[in-house]
Amino acid sequence: MRWRSPLPLPLLLLLFLLFSLLVGRSRGKSSGFRICAFNVQNFNSTKAANYRVMHTVTRIVSRCDICLLQEVKDPQLIAIKSLQAALNRYDPYHYISVSSGGLGNTASDMQQYVFIYRNETAKVTGQHQYQKKQSFVREPFAVRFHSDKTVMKDFVLVPLHTAAQQAVQEIDRLYDVYQEVSRKWNTSDVMFLGDFNAGCAHMTRADRKRIRLFTQQGFYWLIGDKVDTTVRDITNCPYDRIVVHGQSFLRNIRPRSAQVFNFAKEFKLSKERVLKVSDHFPVGVELKCSAHLPRAPPLLLLLSLSVIVRSCLSAL
Ligand SMILES: *[C@@H]1O[C@H](CO)[C@@H](O)[C@H](O)[C@H]1NC(C)=O
Ligand SMILES: *[C@@H]1O[C@H](CO)[C@@H](O)[C@H](O)[C@H]1NC(C)=O
Ligand SMILES: *[C@@H]1O[C@H](CO)[C@@H](O)[C@H](O)[C@H]1NC(C)=O
Repeated sequence: MRWRSPLPLPLLLLLFLLFSLLVGRSRGKSSGFRICAFNVQNFNSTKAANYRVMHTVTRIVSRCDICLLQEVKDPQLIAIKSLQAALNRYDPYHYISVSSGGLGNTASDMQQYVFIYRNETAKVTGQHQYQKKQSFVREPFAVRFHSDKTVMKDFVLVPLHTAAQQAVQEIDRLYDVYQEVSRKWNTSDVMFLGDFNAGCAHMTRADRKRIRLFTQQGFYWLIGDKVDTTVRDITNCPYDRIVVHGQSFLRNIRPRSAQVFNFAKEFKLSKERVLKVSDHFPVGVELKCSAHLPRAPPLLLLLSLSVIVRSCLSAL
């Protein structure tokens, strides 16, 4: 007995083809390389001991290939190690991190910049602590990354959490940091990210003419002025930003991928619970990925097409 399909072979193949196209699509959608920046308001070991807070932070960081955490006050790295352990239980990727030393003017408010990243998709190839103490309260800690997953391969991330009362001056001085790191690593592919306090009373439209990241050519602000990166209903400010330097960096950004991540909405959490985590929402952006995965569908497509054509011809 020969098994007979209820559908003719060409139709089956056509369905298969459509299916594989759809699968290829959705796979393409989630294939960006995501870089995030999150001000986790006073992230210390006490906060990390709160299970519910930690669970939310874990879910947020696990969306990102690289996540910059700011306002980390964890000199012994107890909170960070516990976050890494939680991530490694929660997610198939293996997360590791690189941290600056404590930065700040007062012993009671020393903060670290921490990059937590997926060992499988990113690699740290250099780090550089900007030293000009009088320029920033928390001088940027630049880290150079390599990722085979991205089209770009190599790029430099420069974090900044400004002191709100001198936000304009500090954002302007990122231009000096740009010159230093671009010389050091012979690259113009630099991204600035973090809580710049770049909005509301701290940075107005009129302040732009005093900021070289606006007045000099080649800097692209990816998070716009109308975005609200604050949690509280009474504030509506684009404090957290992502800026890239250079056309080639811009071309490597997935269109419209630069966004605030409203985890109150996404995770359906009350404002009260969200405020236990932070008064900021994270921002993020995706880099384009090198396309070895989506190469399979076109081959399948060709094969299927040739079979369809042949079976149609033989049916004549
Ligand atoms: C963490 O911060 C909270 C709030 O400021 C504070 O009460 C607590 O003592 C801090 N924990 C540590 C270990 O410093
Ligand atoms: C990271 O991945 C490399 C291989 O890609 C492996 O040799 C190394 O042990 C991993 N490191 C950690 C901390 O998982
Ligand atoms: C710097 O990079 C450019 C290309 O981006 C290259 O042509 C040049 O040789 C590099 N210079 C050094 C000193 O490596």
